[in-house]
Amino acid sequence: MNYSVVIPAAGQGKRMKLNHNKQFLQLENKPVIIHTLEIFQQDEWCKEIIVVANPNEAEQIRDLTNTYRITKAKQIVSGGSERQHSVYNGLKAVKDSEIVLIHDGARPFVEEDLIHKLVIETDRSDAAILAVPIKDTVKECIESTITHTVDRSSLYSAQTPQAFSLKTILEAHKLAEENQFLGTDDASLVENLQKKVSIVMGDYFNIKLTTQEDIVFARSILQVKRGAVEL
Ligand code: CTP
Ligand code: MG
Repeated sequence: MNYSVVIPAAGQGKRMKLNHNKQFLQLENKPVIIHTLEIFQQDEWCKEIIVVANPNEAEQIRDLTNTYRITKAKQIVSGGSERQHSVYNGLKAVKDSEIVLIHDGARPFVEEDLIHKLVIETDRSDAAILAVPIKDTVKECIESTITHTVDRSSLYSAQTPQAFSLKTILEAHKLAEENQFLGTDDASLVENLQKKVSIVMGDYFNIKLTTQEDIVFARSILQVKRGAVEL
């Protein structure tokens, strides 16, 4: 089975509070974005990688893809002010795959077997995402006072990759643009088309580097993957 992947990497990483984009943070001497791109470079099902970058950083990313021989990353396209705009720019550059994955540049630990499960489910159902059951008890609050405890048995944390037929996700982004709808993930745009989106069980190691604590978690995950630390 074949797919293209769009990698949004054009954010500013404000919550990480570094003085540069978190995509360039070094984890075991390799930038986060390269950890992410290598997963798709190595996956035989992946035919094309489209990296979405801030125009100011495109050259830096091109240098990195050359250095690390990410040969599938032929196109680096410009990002927009919101993640959704960046993804839409990336989707418009997809060449001929029927299935397209969207995966955060800042999520460097997704495993190939999960990617394949997701692609197989998308081939069957048109739209699918990785997600994990939430672990915390969730409270709804108004001004620091609890108004409600949410039943967590039906709650999941959405991850990426999120995978769609190219036709469906382009239609969803077009509609969102027309309605000026801004979602925090791509599945929500497809949900707005009243189409079903399936969930494939993700993995708690598939974290997104968002705040500074995640750097500590990321280093530990790399040690586990190397076999240097046992669970
Ligand atoms: N992203 C993007 N274009 C944007 C915003 C985000 O391509 N305008 C990308 C990020 O680079 C990241 C992914 O989308 O790989 C997930 O977004 P997030 O974790 O929110 O990253 P940032 O927006 O960079 O971080 P923050 O929200 O803390 O500023
Ligand atoms: Mg953001």
